[in-house]
Amino acid sequence: MGYWSYRSRRSSLFFFFVILFLVSSAPSVVSKMGLKLEDIVNLCKRRAIIIPSGEIYGGYAGFFDYGPIGAEIKRRIINDWWRTFVSMRDDVYGILPAIITSPKVWKASGHVDEFIDILVECKKCKTRYKAETLLEELGVDITDLSLEGISNTIRSNNIRCPKCGGELGEPRRFNLMIEAQVGPVGSKESVAYLRPEIAQGMFTNFKLITIAMGARLPFGIAGVGRVFRNEISPRTFIFRCREFEIAEIEYFIDPEKQDECPYISEVKNLEIIIWSKEDQVKNREPQTLTIDEAMDMGMFSNTWHAYWCGKAIEWLKSIGLSSKNLRLREHLDTELAHYAVQTFDIEYNFPYLGWKEIVGIANRTDYDLNRHAKFSGEKLYIVEDGRRIYPYCIEPSFGIDRIFLAIITEAYSVIDGRIVLKLKPKVAPYDVGVFPLLKRKPFVEKAIAINNMLKKAGFITYIELSGKIGRCYAKADEIGIPFALTVDHQTLNENTITIRFRDTREQIRVRVEDLVDELTKLINRY
Ligand code: GAP
Repeated sequence: MGYWSYRSRRSSLFFFFVILFLVSSAPSVVSKMGLKLEDIVNLCKRRAIIIPSGEIYGGYAGFFDYGPIGAEIKRRIINDWWRTFVSMRDDVYGILPAIITSPKVWKASGHVDEFIDILVECKKCKTRYKAETLLEELGVDITDLSLEGISNTIRSNNIRCPKCGGELGEPRRFNLMIEAQVGPVGSKESVAYLRPEIAQGMFTNFKLITIAMGARLPFGIAGVGRVFRNEISPRTFIFRCREFEIAEIEYFIDPEKQDECPYISEVKNLEIIIWSKEDQVKNREPQTLTIDEAMDMGMFSNTWHAYWCGKAIEWLKSIGLSSKNLRLREHLDTELAHYAVQTFDIEYNFPYLGWKEIVGIANRTDYDLNRHAKFSGEKLYIVEDGRRIYPYCIEPSFGIDRIFLAIITEAYSVIDGRIVLKLKPKVAPYDVGVFPLLKRKPFVEKAIAINNMLKKAGFITYIELSGKIGRCYAKADEIGIPFALTVDHQTLNENTITIRFRDTREQIRVRVEDLVDELTKLINRY
């Protein structure tokens, strides 16, 4: 055997053992492919992240309570959204419209007449289905079908109740708005609606806000809060519920300057997966393009529409969703809401559901302002450069609960058989966990002192004083706390403390007086 071949065999053996060592000592990470919705539901229940509402009475379909961890995560998602799209911009005004408003608003907006689904009920077990979902599997699009046409399709294809096999009743129109009684009950006038979207608060307040804020086009009005829809079949955990949270921006532009977006350079090089209407109709795959390329190909209704699609994707990435799991899908003509001329959904690729909508970005034109002007008699135009303008409106509408589900899904990892929620610090429930190594007075007192110091410095902390450090780490990992501090003997003797990293389990030791700076640096590095 020659010297060189001996050397190369020896070095490959060396590398083989190095790799073997690395593989055996590295935490084993389970891929997301096998992740099921049940895994997420179980984690959420066990750690009281999200709980079916009224659980002790068997729950209530389509309604959920967010527990302490879930509430913190959700609050942080919403705060980051508000900071990004309202506080950090000079051209967007944030408002908090009422949940119940004049029923006339919903007549004018078209929701009373158009916000409907077609419902089919099983005659035997009384389960209700959306006709759209029942016929989807046959490849039938019900949009152009009359109630009679839908009924005939159900009969001719012998579609039975998927649950009990019973005969299905006649299809009927079903308004998705949930009614409420306001004032003296019983009269027709007392019927009001729980809002199904926030947007109408932005349109009905348009004039006052424009005057009060001295707003000039282009500008936006944003709102976030609870909405309610009487979904026929709420399902898939928080993906389709009856009470949920949305965050919306109504961004008003001059119809004559639809392609003059001064901020487009911020997103034009952003690479996106986009599935245009034309590609869907012609059975072509989605394309990977920059926003600029997609604009050149005429895929967006205008430059502002492209800009808001880009900004929405940018934000979703910043809170932890990866670009490979996000795509823009244009609505087919048959899917468009009554107010929209073009809509893109941002879909997330859930491993257990496939690509599903989490954000909708519609071009609502001047539909809403015009309708409210007509119904209320108010002049809802704006005068600029001697022109009376009914602005067009681009509306990015973010489904916060679906985004929550996507974030938890993306963050869910299993390392050495244990769940680790790899949340970005900005959407983690706590910045840092503080744990004494032992449940003895000096350790506990020091942990409390450090916890108080961090709280005073503005950190959101979690403290557990059981002294069962393994359990504390496991819990902190499962609820996604990015850093854990352990108060040990050295902390008491030398005033130093270990910071443990959730994702790698690495530990570093720092001086307690440097802790605030070190943590700030670590959080900002994500
Ligand atoms: N103002 C426009 C509007 O409401 P939408 O597409 O009907 O648009 C906005 O709703 C977002 O709300 C959707 O992109 C989706 O993420 C979320 N959403 C819609 N229905 C939902 C439901 N039943 N449960 C949870 N989220 C829902």
